[in-house]
Amino acid sequence: MAQIAKKEHWGSQIGVVLAVAGSAVGLGNFLRFPGQVVNHGGGAFMIPYIISLLLIAIPISMSEWALGRCGGRKGFHSPLGVYHAVSGGRTGWGVLGGLNALAPFVINMYYIFIESWCLLYALQYLGGVLQPLGLGFSIFSEVEPGLRLATTENYSGFFGSLVGISENGSLFKLTSSPLLIATILCAAANFLLIFLGISKGIEKFCKIAAPLILVCAILVIVRVATLGTPEGGSGLSFLDGLGFMWNPTREITLETGEILQTNIWDSLLDPDTWLAATAQIFFSVSICLGAICTYSSYIRPKEDIALSSLSATATNEFCEVVLAGFMAIPPAIMFLGMNAADKFGSSFSLGFVVLPNVFELMPFGQFFGFLFFLLLFLAAITSSMSLVQPTVALFQESFRWSRGASVILAAIINLIGTIIVCWYTQNLVALDVFDFWLANCTPFIFVIIQTSFIIFVWGSANFATELAEGSKIKPPLFIVKIVKYVSFPYLLIIFGFWAWQNLGDRIREVAANRVAQLSFGFFMSLILLLTLLAIMAMNRWKREEQAGIALDPNEKNA
Ligand code: PFF
Repeated sequence: MAQIAKKEHWGSQIGVVLAVAGSAVGLGNFLRFPGQVVNHGGGAFMIPYIISLLLIAIPISMSEWALGRCGGRKGFHSPLGVYHAVSGGRTGWGVLGGLNALAPFVINMYYIFIESWCLLYALQYLGGVLQPLGLGFSIFSEVEPGLRLATTENYSGFFGSLVGISENGSLFKLTSSPLLIATILCAAANFLLIFLGISKGIEKFCKIAAPLILVCAILVIVRVATLGTPEGGSGLSFLDGLGFMWNPTREITLETGEILQTNIWDSLLDPDTWLAATAQIFFSVSICLGAICTYSSYIRPKEDIALSSLSATATNEFCEVVLAGFMAIPPAIMFLGMNAADKFGSSFSLGFVVLPNVFELMPFGQFFGFLFFLLLFLAAITSSMSLVQPTVALFQESFRWSRGASVILAAIINLIGTIIVCWYTQNLVALDVFDFWLANCTPFIFVIIQTSFIIFVWGSANFATELAEGSKIKPPLFIVKIVKYVSFPYLLIIFGFWAWQNLGDRIREVAANRVAQLSFGFFMSLILLLTLLAIMAMNRWKREEQAGIALDPNEKNA
């Protein structure tokens, strides 16, 4: 197969592990996961979560690492190129591979918007931390340095007005809206890092961000764990909060004052708990969304991908279950009680309303609030880079453009989507539509497409050989069998349930809601663009292969 792109590689094995872990560890770990745990019965959620981790995340992410490296060895880095190379140029599969770049790219369009909320909260807290030194500042004219708003209603009102929840277009009315400026800055930082390249941009940044995230998280956890039973709280301690996460049964007090014992089977027999747990694993481990496949295509052929894959997944789980589990869930329970879920609607409320409220009540809360939002911001940036890189690689390969030109085109298209999200902020409707279709629905579809591709087109034997290549310890081959006989049917069942429960209402929403229609039109245009691009690129690659044309100084026949 002709090699078409200039060779880029990760600088080191630890670099690629940190980059993939950086992709996985993000807002999904620190905001979405605690929200899901609290909303789906605490400990009872953890059972399907751990089952999905073992049956889906670990084997499927290994298969994605193997697929990506195989494509990379043939000179391709985008999911389109990888599917093309591995399938031997089958157009249908290539187009599906091309479409694989869509979901991460569109997720990034709203992900950077949320990233900018984290940046502004971090800066606002920093203003409060520096105030005693006479260096205090405030990003928001109506708020003193720091974030001390006294009541949950005030925090909620502040968050609502920050993101323009009451009116579409409100963020654009203030020419100097800090949120718009912050969103532009986040996007610029993102695309600049990608422009700098795989090892000089993405890898370097992940190596700096990873220890910072860890230090911030540990400091916040130590603070939360040493609070005792805080005044102004619900009378529960840190250990009660941990118990909420790990104990499937517990007592809850109803509004009538009646005390009820929860039953583990109520949660386990509810398909919603399984769907939520599986969807959380997809999003959090970043599987089958093109990111791992693209990142692993830059690995050198002789590196141990089984170990790297396991290390990246383990790092993600450590950050999610241990760090986020210790940092966000216990304080919510300590201050709001066992019925915390009834008191906040979404993961956003947990992060941007409940926890700021909690920081205000704890000693040195401004400082810990700053650390918390700084770590969210850093984790979000390392994830966003991986959301865009598959599309940049796609443009580089299919147009045969330089990295710079590809980054500029990706940034322009990204901006259009981000403008839609930032304009239609009433009840965050555009963000919700983008999130549902691209971060909830599409991963289910792509995980099935990719697993079918690996099993039926590439073949289990090739997958096993690729996985073993370069491994210091021979990876157990039952992983291959698990992907085929366990993960795949499990995914089909879960997707069936998910579609049955969710799709009807959401399709009706698209028929009735103007913003959903506009967003859908935008997704369809991107699908069309990616399909045409995929067909055009594959036809050219095939012609070049037949003619044996050398197009790149690096070109060799692999
Ligand atoms: N895993 C990231 C998070 O938890 O926030 C989000 C993400 C990154 C999803 C990259 C998908 C992806 F390809």
